[in-house]
Amino acid sequence: LQEIKNIDIAGKKVFIRCDFNVPVDEYNNITDDRRIRSALNTIRYCIDNDCSVILASHFGRPKGGFEEKYSLEPIAKRLHILLKQDIKLAPSVVCDQTLKMAKELKAGEIMLLENMRFEAGETKNDEELSKKLASMADVYINDAFGVSHRAHSSVEGIAKYFDENHKAAGFLLAKEIKFFHHIVENPKRPFVSIVGGSKVSGKLEALYNLVPKVDKIVIGGGMAFTFLKALGHEIGKSLVEEDLIPEALKIMDLAKQKGVKLYLPVDIVAAEAFDSEAIAKIVPVQEMPKSWMGLDIGPATALLFSEVLSDANTILWNGPMGVYEMEKFAKGSTKISHAVASSYATTVVGGGDTADLVRITGDEADMTFISTGGGASLELIEGKILPGVKALVIEEDN
Ligand code: 3PG
Repeated sequence: LQEIKNIDIAGKKVFIRCDFNVPVDEYNNITDDRRIRSALNTIRYCIDNDCSVILASHFGRPKGGFEEKYSLEPIAKRLHILLKQDIKLAPSVVCDQTLKMAKELKAGEIMLLENMRFEAGETKNDEELSKKLASMADVYINDAFGVSHRAHSSVEGIAKYFDENHKAAGFLLAKEIKFFHHIVENPKRPFVSIVGGSKVSGKLEALYNLVPKVDKIVIGGGMAFTFLKALGHEIGKSLVEEDLIPEALKIMDLAKQKGVKLYLPVDIVAAEAFDSEAIAKIVPVQEMPKSWMGLDIGPATALLFSEVLSDANTILWNGPMGVYEMEKFAKGSTKISHAVASSYATTVVGGGDTADLVRITGDEADMTFISTGGGASLELIEGKILPGVKALVIEEDN
């Protein structure tokens, strides 16, 4: 993997792909700026080397055009505070005015492109878009570990337009990749993976590939309901991906075949509505009311999961156990956070939400490693080469 410190960037125009996809509250205030702070080393290094810096990121999942609530304006403001310098926010990703701004950018100046996903071509890895983005700079740096599992224009496609002396991994990406290689090659066993969160569809394939690598797998959060439903449980109005029920069954079969122990919630905090004020009660999974929804794991599950963790030597945790943003449904995630933090295992926390959660629970300092990547870290543990990383590898036969 080519690293930024090994290429000559002095005085150049540098395009840095970052992952500024940070959690925000209902008023669009950033609740955890770890992903922004994690990119500062690379940005400062470029400024110290007299570069002009073009920053790019996605934020949320807009539908392919401008949407006010997905503008990178709050990110530009936070960057301004953290870097103590002016951040020029571009009006778009690649319109003429933006391209002009990039052209006129001087050494030591920083501009931030608007949300990459305002361009429909971004997630399609569109060649025209990749080419336009590449045309803005002399050097391409990928420091967006969290999105490097996506073959998108600003992550993968763009890299094709730079030779090996003009593209590299930033400090954050390089650090994450080194850490996960170490874990994949030499995990201390028992190796337990806890998977939760609400991005079910994106994570099921990862789970399937993860099963043979670990000794135990613990499934909580929104993702658990697809599994519970697959086992014939009533799940009421809980989050579920009906189409993925066969996948969930395949994962459970594979775990059985490989002798990997798989744990699901035994009780649920069910609520009448997705609302912090909603009436809620704890029910065994066998007694979920039809018109209610599960928003957290129950206390018996938190105890069970904590017991599962007690003999672990490596714990990989990805995804909260419930809607931790609402106090009423945060207890399960908080208990798991404390259990992971007090373990003697090597503890790896992945994903924006899970990182935010362990900060709120005060357990941050007791984790071995907090990754800025959720899906990306799962794919690395599966043994996959991330497209955004592959695009930076110097191929020997080239
Ligand atoms: C993440 O939050 O995991 C990354 O920023 C990737 O976002 P995505 O799942 O919307 O591609």
